[in-house]
Amino acid sequence: MTATQRVTVRVPAKVNLQLAVGPLRDDGYHDLVNVFHAVSLFDEVTATEPGAAGAFTVRVEGEAGSQVPADATNLAIRAAEALAKHAGQIGADGRPYGVDLLIRKAIPVAGGMAGGSADAAAALLACDALWGLGLSREELMEIGAGIGSDVPFALLGGTAVGTGRGERLTPVPATGAFHWVFALADGGLSTPRVYGECDRIRAEAGEEVAWPSADEALMAALRDGDARALGAALANDLQPAALTLRPSLARTLDVGRDAGALGALVSGSGPTCAFLAASADHARELSEALTSAGVCRAAITADGPVPGAEIVA
Ligand code: C5P
Repeated sequence: MTATQRVTVRVPAKVNLQLAVGPLRDDGYHDLVNVFHAVSLFDEVTATEPGAAGAFTVRVEGEAGSQVPADATNLAIRAAEALAKHAGQIGADGRPYGVDLLIRKAIPVAGGMAGGSADAAAALLACDALWGLGLSREELMEIGAGIGSDVPFALLGGTAVGTGRGERLTPVPATGAFHWVFALADGGLSTPRVYGECDRIRAEAGEEVAWPSADEALMAALRDGDARALGAALANDLQPAALTLRPSLARTLDVGRDAGALGALVSGSGPTCAFLAASADHARELSEALTSAGVCRAAITADGPVPGAEIVA
């Protein structure tokens, strides 16, 4: 048994700088080239000893808390349970592992910024410390990959290319900080539904689906810290599907572009839209333009890259 009674982990949201979606696989997933970038928009997950040994509970606080399931379908609970199973269910003191999780949400729910995956990643790191398991980051990433394709990246952070279904990660060298604005939408979009719509659009167009590959111009822009070149290279194969399911996003993207964004795209499966700015001041200007045009629920600024999940208390 560890002396730790309470652990708090801070975990970032992600935006996809390139999301190249390959053919549909037999297991229902798509092979991807997914350039993840962690940004300074954070959820916090606190793990404490449960009231009853072996119990797993979750509470969610924050503006969007009511939209997150607080039962066993919650990804953070599933992650904690998977870690307990990996560790053999019973601690050194003979008591079954269990945890009370408190999630403070700032990352939009079902927003295309991997908020649920981030909470799962944070739960893995927090429970590892609470239970005194001492697993490596790599081991936690492997358990995380079984929970969701984006969970390993939330543990890694920074900027990284994900292949396979997005879970096989290679860090990408990046110079400097990039300034972002995120336009949050009302309500979410279901990730499986957006992938399904992407398949439908492609089938209807009779499109031959190419094997995805990393964009060299994007990699060079990251290496050089060149925001203008990065803005021009941003790309998301899920964007047409997200725009079909949520046509109003086209106007959100246009307002950001007209206000001088260096790049504008739907984040992941949406409906959050991401805009790259030239500076922190420019990001504030863009954010005001988006808010005053009334094309989003809220606009927030953030920087990237930032580290993955970290214990903060
Ligand atoms: O891995 P995760 O549970 O986050 O994925 C959610 C859904 O997104 C999958 O059920 C699948 O429909 C879709 N998906 C996909 N290809 C990927 C990742 C996710 O089709 N590489």
